[in-house]
Amino acid sequence: MSTAHCCFSALFRVLTFFSWMGISVAQESVLAQRPPMGWNSWNHFECKVSDAIIRAQADAMVSSGMKAVGYRYVNIDDCWQGNRDPQGRIHANEKFSDMKALADYVHSKGLKLGIYSSPGPKTCAGYEGSYGHEEQDAQTYSSWGIDFLKYDLCSLEGKGDQIAAYRKMGEALKKAGRPVVYSLCQYGMEGVWSWGKSVGGNLWRTTDDIRDNYYIMAVFGFGQSGLEKFAGPGHWNDPDMLEIGNGGMDQDEYRTHMSLWCILAAPLIAGNDLTKMTPATLAILTNPEVVAVDQDPGGVQGHRVRQLGPLEVWMKPLADGSKVVGLFNLDWGPMPITVDLREIGADDSAAVRDLWARRNLGVFKGTFTATVPKHGVVMIRVK
Ligand code: GLA
Repeated sequence: MSTAHCCFSALFRVLTFFSWMGISVAQESVLAQRPPMGWNSWNHFECKVSDAIIRAQADAMVSSGMKAVGYRYVNIDDCWQGNRDPQGRIHANEKFSDMKALADYVHSKGLKLGIYSSPGPKTCAGYEGSYGHEEQDAQTYSSWGIDFLKYDLCSLEGKGDQIAAYRKMGEALKKAGRPVVYSLCQYGMEGVWSWGKSVGGNLWRTTDDIRDNYYIMAVFGFGQSGLEKFAGPGHWNDPDMLEIGNGGMDQDEYRTHMSLWCILAAPLIAGNDLTKMTPATLAILTNPEVVAVDQDPGGVQGHRVRQLGPLEVWMKPLADGSKVVGLFNLDWGPMPITVDLREIGADDSAAVRDLWARRNLGVFKGTFTATVPKHGVVMIRVK
């Protein structure tokens, strides 16, 4: 028997054993194994979302090249819901004629469709929530072909414990049988990072709502250090969706947003209009070397190594042993930032590559220094 044949039969026997045990190997190993990448309607369209907009975003995700670098989920946020019928089944409102047909369309592009609900009777925008209908809604989503659920804490006051409510929907999704990435959105309350995984969550918001504003993005992003021990394959901290391309920050600020989210191994859920992207926006969202930092198979969330007033150094270790370092300048003018190679766990002499410029900078001994623009970043890979 050849070595290849021997290994193949051994693998086959292991897979057969797992399926005999009732364990779905493929399903368990791929659901949010890496931070989910995609797009969501809220940051740009808010309640103006419709079937036509979702189809156009799916089209643009493919034609822009975003799909090619890993973006997959096309997520409908709040405001899609209509009424429940006499049997209690939820229906979409007049802006979505046929959710199953929409899911089929998105799937036909090799993408996945996400949806939104709340554990309370009403969603944050006042639409029909899932309270008292959790199993029924999970089954409805499954029958439509939904792949991702953002479950947003609104109107649960006086209706019970939120952890129990999130567990209830987590169990309902499992019972419905279709693999659905479960995204908890309750702004980090009650230390969600310590219980989000136990209720079935694949990602959980750690912050209030992001805005297309440098200072709010910075408070959220730079405030994540310390939470790294709660993240890993299948379960991620979520400092909220991206604002890149929505117009409220300059290019250095958007590069800071993207760099920080990738060092944090955060979900990369774009929030701009993908049908109207400038080349600069697209370049920030799709730099393959930067996206690869987020999607590194090691699944380690980076952390702050050092802070000197408005100057911060962050590091994310990668599976191949190299370190990605973000040199961030939160100040109001360009500033030099120096990294001691030993403080990031690298050898005293190491090769440095600039990930935004996409070029090798050479071998450095002891320290590396770069001048970083106002509100900007230099992101390097050190090996
Ligand atoms: C909350 C969430 C947002 C969005 C809106 C929709 O504010 O944090 O991301 O989903 O609700 O109403």
